[in-house]
Amino acid sequence: MKLNINIDHVATLRQARLGTFPDPLRLALLAEIAGADGIVCHLREDRRHIQDQDVRRLKQNIQTPLILEMAHSDEIIDFAIKIKPNYVTLVPEKRQELTTESGLDVNADIEKYKRFCKLMQSNWIKVSFFIDPTSEQVDAALSSGADMIEIHTGDYADAKTKQEQDEEFLKIEDTVKYARTKNIEIALGHGLNYDNTARVAKIDGVSELSIGHSLICHSLEVGIKEAVSQMKSIIEINSKIVKKD
Ligand code: PXP
Repeated sequence: MKLNINIDHVATLRQARLGTFPDPLRLALLAEIAGADGIVCHLREDRRHIQDQDVRRLKQNIQTPLILEMAHSDEIIDFAIKIKPNYVTLVPEKRQELTTESGLDVNADIEKYKRFCKLMQSNWIKVSFFIDPTSEQVDAALSSGADMIEIHTGDYADAKTKQEQDEEFLKIEDTVKYARTKNIEIALGHGLNYDNTARVAKIDGVSELSIGHSLICHSLEVGIKEAVSQMKSIIEINSKIVKKD
């Protein structure tokens, strides 16, 4: 099971000051050194975090596959065809949402999604659809010609009670079982963290997990001691150096 790292929230921090750091490319390269199997970024229509130039630089520099999450929008489709990520994950996108809220309803417009798959695949870009855990959406993704599906784990991750979490887990497990009989590649993602990933990692037949927010948050926690200690050293050393008058 591969681990793909979503680096959107490195860009969120950078955009808070509209500066140049933290740099999503540097963090992507560090993630690769640590063992990441792929780098994911979501170029949103409102460009709230990842910018076009980030995607270009990632494509030029990373060694692992680049996975571009995107909405079905003409502008982003043209951009993806120019950049040629290893694959795109099509997601629904709403301007007001804080993060992707649900899976794509592929059934709602199969013909549109068929055209999308054809266009991407004719440009040597694989297609994954981000779908809710239902066999209907798996069938719709297959009918559209998708190479892969990513099953939305957000409801499982957000469950408030053990019973709710069990129910959501079962939906994911059943959908994976169903998709395996159809020979389509399966990824899982959204809301996975250091508590809830162990359970989904046990599901047979899943080839990739896509994890972002919790991992970037955790890296702040595990990194802050070292960061403070380095800044203290700079201050201490420099305040001890005898000044010439
Ligand atoms: N998969 C998809 C399709 C997403 O839209 C996101 C969020 O950008 C993720 C995975 C990663 O979710 P999280 O940041 O909650 O780990």
